[in-house]
Amino acid sequence: MNTSTAAAFPAGCTAFRGPLLHFIGEPGLTQPNPDSYEYHADGLLVVADGRVLANGAATDLLPRLPAGTEVGQWPDSLIIPGLIDTHVHMPQLAVMASYGTQLLEWLETYTFPTEARFADAGWSADQSQLFLDLLLAHGTTSALVFSTSHKVAAEALFSAADGYNMAITTGKVMMDCHAPDGVRDETEASYSESRELIERWHGKGRQRYAVTPRFAATSTVQQLTYAGQLVAEYPDVLMQTHWAENHAEIAWIKELFPERSSYLDVYDHFGLLGERSVLAHGIHIDDVDRARLAETGTRIAFCPTSNTFLGSGLFDLASARAAEVQVGLATDVGGGTSLSMLATMAEAYKVCQLRGQSLNPFQAFYMATLGNAQVLHQAADTGNLQPGKYADFLILDRTASPALRLKHKADRDLQGMLFDLMILGDDRAIRRTYIAGQCRYDRESTKGAALNACISG
Ligand code: GUN
Ligand code: ZN
Repeated sequence: MNTSTAAAFPAGCTAFRGPLLHFIGEPGLTQPNPDSYEYHADGLLVVADGRVLANGAATDLLPRLPAGTEVGQWPDSLIIPGLIDTHVHMPQLAVMASYGTQLLEWLETYTFPTEARFADAGWSADQSQLFLDLLLAHGTTSALVFSTSHKVAAEALFSAADGYNMAITTGKVMMDCHAPDGVRDETEASYSESRELIERWHGKGRQRYAVTPRFAATSTVQQLTYAGQLVAEYPDVLMQTHWAENHAEIAWIKELFPERSSYLDVYDHFGLLGERSVLAHGIHIDDVDRARLAETGTRIAFCPTSNTFLGSGLFDLASARAAEVQVGLATDVGGGTSLSMLATMAEAYKVCQLRGQSLNPFQAFYMATLGNAQVLHQAADTGNLQPGKYADFLILDRTASPALRLKHKADRDLQGMLFDLMILGDDRAIRRTYIAGQCRYDRESTKGAALNACISG
């Protein structure tokens, strides 16, 4: 663009100067396509009214700022879009790092008792706030989230997210069988409460609803029918569930639904597949499953830290992508061991290594930003820093730890810098997190300190 004739930015905008990276397409798993991203070694992000006004080279854009505009200086940093998590459980913060079990025993021993506390509205409100503050401290600006079977838990999470103007998609968990008292819901109420929550929250501000049957084992046929009915009645809500995570789980589903040809066919039968459906895990699957996922547009959330921690298995990313299945990246806390999408990228890389597959750092950062925005149907508003999108972005610290500082001194190229951040980075590398142009987390501020104190206190 000819900057001498380009219009000045409006008064009241703010600007952030530093290395800036975002994606405009998919790089690919092996050789990254250089047309898939834009990188400015000395970049500028211009924000007004919660939205991106412009991004580009600082030398091009600085002359267009009105005199006196505040310009944040972020050398040794990286400005990127906010990270997006496509599968995480708000009530499972305290479940992280629970010792010695695999999925079904883990659910019974640790998870269900922890989730039972969310019948209490006050507890749900406190935990929802803590959960969002922790997401922000880990650089996550948007997520598809499981709450619990209690309507108050979903309400609390929506309400807290709305208070931050943060794009959260969640729903009341539907689970009316094969679970203890305190976390089971009533079949009819699961339908009516889901409807009430959709009417109240779906499309309110940045909030969206996801119909949330936990997994096929904890819903009766009637409840799965209701879930399908909700998806049909409200075609623009999302649907989230778990699928094909663990061998014992899969054998159980076979027993419970002998008339269905596969685990995927259970969800298919109840009308739960489609472009707005996100199935977490999808580890133990075959080419027939992949073809059906691709045909219906159903997405998988790849949850590497959970899949390794619970000993569930190694997700086959290359086969899913070769079959044109859309795959998002997710933490799955508390089966997962970190809310950090950087740590999640590192684990994804290791899972790919164990399968003899590649995950180059461009693809990993793409997946955690624009790719995940597309998986969740929110790329019109988030996922990169194109003008008009919400200004959800991060200032990453490339020198956040001794190991990162050491690598930084070696003057790494862009690929090296991204790889260092994804393999060695975690919440320490999050310097600031902005939601719709507002700083919601600042590692150096009293808010960052208060959050640390609240967790340790
Ligand atoms: N399958 C059913 N519920 C859950 C859960 O809470 N976490 C995981 N990882 N898998 C599940
Ligand atoms: Zn999960």
